[in-house]
Amino acid sequence: MDIRFQAGGPSRWKADVVLSFVFEDERVEQACPELAERAPWLGIAPAWRDFRGHKGEFVMFYGPEAMEISRVLGVGLGRAEKADMTAFRYAVGTALRRCREYDLETVGVDGCSLARVAARLGVDMAAIVRETVLSAFLGLYRYDRWLSEKSSHADPRWLGLLLEGEFVENDVRAAARMAEAEASGIMLARDAANDPANVMTPSAFAEKAREVAARHGMSFRVLGREELEAEGMGAYLAVARGSAEEPRMAVVEYTPKGTEGLAPVILVGKGLCFDSGGISLKPAKGMEDMKGDMSGAAAVLGVMEALGRLGASAAPSRPVVGIMACAENMPDGHAARPGDIVVAKNGKSIEIVNTDAEGRLVLADALAWAQEHYQPFRILDIATLTGACAVALGLGAAGVFSEDETLAAELCAAGTALGERNWRLPLWTSTSLEVLKSSCADMVNSGRREGGAVHAAVFLQQFIREGVTWAHIDMAAADMGESPVNAKGATGFGVRTLLCAALSGGNMLQ
Ligand code: BES
Ligand code: MN
Ligand code: ZN
Repeated sequence: MDIRFQAGGPSRWKADVVLSFVFEDERVEQACPELAERAPWLGIAPAWRDFRGHKGEFVMFYGPEAMEISRVLGVGLGRAEKADMTAFRYAVGTALRRCREYDLETVGVDGCSLARVAARLGVDMAAIVRETVLSAFLGLYRYDRWLSEKSSHADPRWLGLLLEGEFVENDVRAAARMAEAEASGIMLARDAANDPANVMTPSAFAEKAREVAARHGMSFRVLGREELEAEGMGAYLAVARGSAEEPRMAVVEYTPKGTEGLAPVILVGKGLCFDSGGISLKPAKGMEDMKGDMSGAAAVLGVMEALGRLGASAAPSRPVVGIMACAENMPDGHAARPGDIVVAKNGKSIEIVNTDAEGRLVLADALAWAQEHYQPFRILDIATLTGACAVALGLGAAGVFSEDETLAAELCAAGTALGERNWRLPLWTSTSLEVLKSSCADMVNSGRREGGAVHAAVFLQQFIREGVTWAHIDMAAADMGESPVNAKGATGFGVRTLLCAALSGGNMLQ
């Protein structure tokens, strides 16, 4: 779907259908007077009799077929005082799905009604355009590559923003471009996480990363079993040992012009293409969801894709390095056993008491590797790390752990603005280190259930060098979902927040 603009006011507007946003009990004169100029039939359209503008209410208004605008989809947003961005995103997602069901090829959005929604939500026109465009793409996203009978309804050809002013403001145009980039990153992440583990193997993931890098002129390298061995990454290797699939640590480096030599923002993603638990085998129920245990790595790759799409016009002020630590956790004769002791890249020995606590083993070495090979400005890791995080925060939310007050606050605030629920959890280091004490190694890899997300975060913290700014995002409860902007399955969670972090190269809220 292309994004277009039709500036110059109602007399220039034309589309198969135009979406207009209506708060509860508004009439044409309040909701969309400008649109009614172009579609004069709208004021007397009979369907107004029953349209109340309730949240979740959609009504198609029809005018004479010969008119430039002969269909208007009224999108109810509920009470204006209670307007919220999530409801708006859902309304857009559902509206685009309706348009697709009706096989409408060209969809306009009444910019004047958008401006009123923006004012209600306390954001500017650029921000509401960004959310509109992104929600349109995400609403239409579907994962259907394996269905032998695909839907007969194609996506609309274009989404047009119908604007009142003579010209499209630069910030509005940039906002639409940003939304397109975010959408492509999120959809790439969703595809990767929705792909089953027999297809999206560590090698396949690394190939995908190579393609992203090649497409956008970024540099790429990949470490396989031998390289991981040469680097002394014993914790990472222990996880991969029981799998017939070789581990792959993919590294994509984006160095925009003029940022050469600056300290990079480093993103590290957990890429467990499948997590059976290993010898500490998981129960059968729901195990299929563990194909999504590479959602952290998928989010990191999504960010790189989005950065590539944005290109030079909106390049980050520092280099960005995406590290995707891929492996498969399986039980077999070569698999790591509970009780095994391994040595990580930074020299720390780990007693593996539970092979299902594998994410932290892989990440420990990936984090250590990152700090040996770069002088990071900051490191952010993202991982479907602990079921305990889901117990703590509920579905759809991620835990943020950082010693850096500002960074933690920025990640949470950015998430709120972008529709990603990030919530800070504590790093109670000395308590967790007690829990992680081993009698025969420097640490065990898994302690108590109580506070499990905190212990996992503190485990990772042991691989961060003094003075390095670091945050960890546990997205175990946010990788899967279903909503009007999320076909059941992978969410692409983390792409928006991390893209914001990558672009800012400093204060995320500017
Ligand atoms: N990948 C899982 C965590 C997870 C659980 C992600 C549910 C998404 C949904 C992780 O590798 C794991 O198994 N964690 C264990 C840790 C425990 C053994 C300390 C857990 O949370 O049970
Ligand atoms: Mn596990
Ligand atoms: Zn896992």
